[in-house]
Amino acid sequence: MDAMELVGGRRLQGRVRASGAKNAALPIMAASILADGPMRLKNVPDLMDIRTMTRLLTALGVRVEREPDGDLILKCTSSRKSEAPYRIMKTMRAGICVLGPLVARRRKVRVSLPGGCAIGDRPVDLHLKGLRALGADLGIEHGYIVGDGKRLRGAEMYLGGPFGSTVTGTANILMAAVLAKGVTVIDCAACEPEVQDLCRVLLKMGAQIQGIGSPRLVIEGVDGLAGCEHAVIPDRIEAGTLLLAGAATGGDVTVEGARWSDLFALVHTLREAGAEVEHFDDTIRVRSRRRLKSVDVTTLPFPGFPTDLQAQMMATLTAADGISVVTEKIFPDRFMHVAELSRMGARIRKEGNAAVVHGAKRLSGAPVMASDLRASAALVIAGLIAQGKTNITRIYHLDRGYEKIELKLGRLGAKIRRYKES
Ligand code: EPZ
Repeated sequence: MDAMELVGGRRLQGRVRASGAKNAALPIMAASILADGPMRLKNVPDLMDIRTMTRLLTALGVRVEREPDGDLILKCTSSRKSEAPYRIMKTMRAGICVLGPLVARRRKVRVSLPGGCAIGDRPVDLHLKGLRALGADLGIEHGYIVGDGKRLRGAEMYLGGPFGSTVTGTANILMAAVLAKGVTVIDCAACEPEVQDLCRVLLKMGAQIQGIGSPRLVIEGVDGLAGCEHAVIPDRIEAGTLLLAGAATGGDVTVEGARWSDLFALVHTLREAGAEVEHFDDTIRVRSRRRLKSVDVTTLPFPGFPTDLQAQMMATLTAADGISVVTEKIFPDRFMHVAELSRMGARIRKEGNAAVVHGAKRLSGAPVMASDLRASAALVIAGLIAQGKTNITRIYHLDRGYEKIELKLGRLGAKIRRYKES
């Protein structure tokens, strides 16, 4: 198994590019099930989750090929395969994104409920509520969502849950509604940039969608959808992680593929903490000459502060002056990183869905273990600012969402290397 070693204490400096967004690419790949022609996707990162989605789509009769120039070509065969097996679904929750397209296109479905997750409960009740509103007859049997549908009909629905909107739930309903007969209205739809990117792909395929980027999406069903070509948006979470690494190390880092419109919650938070942040077309530069100050952060659905940057923000705040309160309003149990950061000397007290971070004491490098994707990214940031050596094991979690992270950080001056655990 791969592990990572970091020697902390270096200021990061330079320019780096964020890869394509994993969480945009995954549902867009699933949309290939809806297409009558081939899809050509550019800027799809080469990551474990993308390979898992490729396996899942292949099992569902989609031919997926990576061309030498990096483009991903997806061609849906006329297959009637409609089983998303547990052996694949257990490794990646985003596999649930095939549910909407399968219900709309193949009608008969057998999709395994996704596996457990380190960041807390992740129900799919809202996905089912929305699809049932469209007329899908779905039940749960032996751990599988099963259904034997007919043509769907447009409907009005409210997709808000106890923690706000649902990102992959909105994606699923959208991908079913585009082929339903009549008009569908989704209220409390997720507004995340990844959902907007999926909408843009569906438009290119011939779908009719209004209200993109707002919490009310109005979809008029069409009879069929064509293939298309699309460049996936850059990964705002990877970009945000690199900016935080720059700010945490007192560095000067410019990230290309960092769009202000996707990242303003982070940018304002960094400014509040005393960092200088400038933004250009799709580039953001962060400089932090002085020690950062404490800030309070609350995660919320977009355009609020993203839960996927909460752990990395917390690692950064361990080096800030003062006391910060980090409140998690999307996944109230998403604090697996707290115990590992504490092993590195961070002073963090967990209180319900919040963590109180006493900053300023310098972390000390230690052997730590990655528990989930973003928690691993937090440990990388902690390793960059800590005194001495940090060894992170189980970095396959990191590899699920960050393409060539050690090369990118290395180019910015980090002392970081990947090695095989003995
Ligand atoms: C997406 O997950 C992302 N994954 C997650 O990124 C991200 O953390 C999350 O959105 C929130 O932004 C992908 O896009 C592949 P949700 P998703 O449905 O869609 C509750 C990462 O690190 N809920 O928006 O599964 C749910 O429990 C990953 O890259 C219901 O109650 O998240 C949560 O509290 C991790 N019922 C809230 O809604 C439902 O049916 C938001 O979840 C669905 C969700």
